[in-house]
Order: sequence, then C-alpha cells, then structure tokens
Amino acid sequence: MSTPAPPAVPPASGSGTIITQPPPPAATRESRIATHSHIKGLGLADDGTAMESSQGFVGQRMAREALGLHLSLLRQGRHSGRPVLLVGPPGTGKTALAVALSQELGSKVPFCGMVGSEVYSGEVKKTEVLGSCFRRAIGLRIKETKEVYEGEVTELTPSEAENPLSGYGKTISHVIVGLKTVKGTKQLRLDPSVYEAIQKERVVVGDVIYIEANTGAVKRVGRSDAYASEYDLEAEEYVPLPKGDVHKRKELVQDVTLHDLDMANARPQGGQDIMSVMGQLVKGGRTEVTDKLRREINKVVDRYIEQGVAELVPGVLFIDEVHMLDMECFTYLNRALESPMSPYVVFASNRGITTIRGTEYDGGYGGEGIRSPHGIPVDLLDRCMIVKTEPYARGEIRTILETRCRVEGIQVAPAALDRLADEGEKSSLRYALQLLTPSSIVARTAGRTEVSLEDVAQLEDLFLDTKRSTLVLKDLDANTKRY
Ligand SMILES: Nc1ncnc2c1ncn2[C@@H]1O[C@H](COP(=O)(O)OP(=O)(O)OP(=O)(O)O)[C@@H](O)[C@H]1O
Ligand SMILES: [Mg+2]
Repeated sequence: MSTPAPPAVPPASGSGTIITQPPPPAATRESRIATHSHIKGLGLADDGTAMESSQGFVGQRMAREALGLHLSLLRQGRHSGRPVLLVGPPGTGKTALAVALSQELGSKVPFCGMVGSEVYSGEVKKTEVLGSCFRRAIGLRIKETKEVYEGEVTELTPSEAENPLSGYGKTISHVIVGLKTVKGTKQLRLDPSVYEAIQKERVVVGDVIYIEANTGAVKRVGRSDAYASEYDLEAEEYVPLPKGDVHKRKELVQDVTLHDLDMANARPQGGQDIMSVMGQLVKGGRTEVTDKLRREINKVVDRYIEQGVAELVPGVLFIDEVHMLDMECFTYLNRALESPMSPYVVFASNRGITTIRGTEYDGGYGGEGIRSPHGIPVDLLDRCMIVKTEPYARGEIRTILETRCRVEGIQVAPAALDRLADEGEKSSLRYALQLLTPSSIVARTAGRTEVSLEDVAQLEDLFLDTKRSTLVLKDLDANTKRY
C-alpha cells in the first residue's frame, strides 16, 4: 500500500511523527458576531483603565478592567489557570465581553466560543464535544526550517494541452512561474497541482509567494511593495522584495491548534487502493479522533516543545450559558482545568440559584436536584474568579444605541433615539436594539432616510416587550378562568 509522504516535520527522535499541516479552513468555526459586530475590543487605556466609551464598548467598566487584567497575565504567559465566570442579568454584555476578549487576542492566539447546550448531541458524547473545544483553544507555534522557492511573481503562465482522456477541453500540463528576489530571478516549471494551489491563494503577478519544495504548498505572503498604492485604506498587505536566493532554506512559523492536529492525523492516510477509498467514503473521509490518537499527539507535541521546535500558545475557551452543562460535564471540566495543557477558560451565566442539570433524578433532594449559584457545582465555583456585569443606565443605553446605528448605517432623529433609550431602560437593552433595524425599514418604506419618533412608536405597537407580553398572557388567563 502506498502512503503519500506527510509534509516534512522537524527531525523527531524516536517513534511517531505527526502531520503538522493544518487542515483546510472548513474546520474553523463560524463566529457569531452579527449582533456584536460593533465590538472591536475591550476599550482599555494603556494603564488598563476602561475608557467610558471606546472600541464599541460602553460602560461596564469594572468587568472590562477585570478582563483586561486577565488578558495581560495571559499575554505574559502567567495566567493562574483559574477560570473566570461572568455573571449578570440578561443583556448586560457578557457575550459582548467575550467577543471583545477574542478581538484583543488577535488571530495568532486561538479562541473557541461555545454555548453550554452545544454538548447535547445524539451522536457525539458530551465530554467529547467539550474535549474537542478544549483542544481548539490550545495553540501550538511550530517553527520548521523548510526548503522553499520564494520571490515576487514576475510570470505566471499555465501551459495547456489537449485532454488525452476525453478529447474535449484542455488540461494544464505544467505552469511556468518566474520568481524574483533582490539577488536574482529564477524560472520554475511546475506541476499542475501547484497551479491549483496558486489559484486557491489567488496569486497574481506582483505578489510575493513561497512554494514549499517537497510538498508543493503555496503561500501568498502579500503584495510586493513595488506595487504599493497611495490609498490609506486598503486591505492589502505590502511586503518588501525577499532577500537572498530564490531557492533557499527558510524558517517557517506555523500556528495550529491541537484540534487541527487531531483532525489532520485522524484522516486515513493510506489510501490509493480501492478498499481504503471505499472506507473513506463510508466514514466521510475521516476516522474518529480517539483518546489514543490524542495521547499520541500530546506525546509528540511534548517532545517538540522539549526540543524547542514548538511552543505552546494557550488560548481562550469561552463557554456561554454555562448553566446548561450537566454534572457529567462539570466533573470533566474539573479534571480538564487541572491538566497542564489547559486553555484559559471563561464562563458566562445569567442565572441565579438554580438546579444543576443532571442532578434532578438523584433522589434524596425531593426530586428537585442540587441547587447551586448559577447552576454550577460549588467545587467548580470555588475555583472560579467571578466577575459581575451590571445593568445599564439610560445614558449608557443611548450611547450603545448610537454606536449600533453607526455600524448599521441607520440615521435616527434625536427624539426617536431618546424614546428607544427610554424603552431600553424600561424593558431591556436587547428590546431597544431589536427595534432599530425594523424601524429603519419602516422609515425607508415611507420614503424617509431618518427614523422618526412615529416609526418607533409604530413598532412598539407591533412588537411587544417581555413585560407587556406577560401582561397579555395574564389577562388571557384571567379571561379563560371566567368561563
Ligand atoms: N457595554 C456595551 N457596549 C456596547 N454594546 C453592548 C454592551 N453591552 C451589551 N452590548 C450589546 O447588547 C447586546 C446584548 O448583549 P449580550 O448579548 O452581550 O448580553 P449577555 O449578557 O450575553 O446576555 P445573556 O445573559 O442574555 O446572554 C449585544 O448586541 C451587545 O453587543
Ligand atoms: Mg449572552
């Protein structure tokens, strides 16, 4: 059975090597940011104090400062290993704080966000879901020296040939790539598979790229600064023309998470013969990530760290609505938090004293189960650093609404904004935020660009807040009882 050679990994003494190439982006998680897209960070000054309104964050200063402090410990690699628990009434910015934290961490430090109820699946064990989230939140920075061809693309010419199989259409027989560095130029004749990789990276002439010699992987570094434009606002990253020869040994730094390594190594690697291809189809091209595989990977990772080839980057695992977890998960968490490879964990909950899930049927508690603050067992609660979020004052609600209007591009008359802020204070911030977009649609339908007081009033009639809807139901109850 032939096995495709795994990408080069650092010289590993002893047995197993693992694939260190991260899998395609499909494995990364979608972030749920639509409602929080105005949040760009914690909005802290250099001395760690929270500014009244900055980076989209308004008020909630104590909680922001507390998280800022934890963030600086994390950056110094000195986090205490104790989880943070955010508690506060609904709509006080707990999820927003976690989003801000992930923004502050940047793209190099892994962040994994999940909601407590995600662990309940008919197919996967609860602890398995938690385990994989833990591993998504632990990064590994691997430094490898690889043989590469690097330079600015001066020529990119695919060469076509008749398709020998069908007679229709053309196939790419090879591709000619010209690369230029400060020292010289080189023309490479490359395999069609490299051309595919080039297309995936959307490389065009003038980009700086490198091609790994033994895997054919292509990475676009940026656009050559010879092409830099004068526009200030541009997403493009300009890089200088590489120095040295086109063909050289280069130290590459790769950021992967332990979960990436699990997935890359769980894929069946053998596989040209028909039985294993069938096997891959049946299993969706993937074998299960077993505990054994994880242990193997941990062992190799430990060795890389010892050899100084890799560095562990603990990231952040955020578990929202933590009261949705049950006793089994909490027991698992207690153990996982104490492992040396633990990420920095943040929980959030809006519950007060409530029953811990999974203890209802234990008996002995009158069928009520064990009640505990935030639905978290006391032993775990004891390990947490608790940060509270406070309800907002009217002024803060108004500023949040204003920020949101700016992000969504909605113009609102001051009187209408006042009315929305009143609503926010009376019922909830979320209710006021939810009225924003529909009221802009009502205004646009009426041919106006600015949301007026009447639009807001109309929507208040159309959509009830929780208080009014409870009243409606109470009335309904009273009426039905009369008959
Ligand atoms: N201090 C703030 N500054 C700016 N926007 C905020 C702030 N607090 C909350 N928001 C926004 O208000 C909305 C509700 O906040 P969020 O979802 O974070 O509440 P929560 O505390 O997680 O509530 P729940 O307990 O119901 O999950 C979000 O759109 C959030 O971005
Ligand atoms: Mg929330």
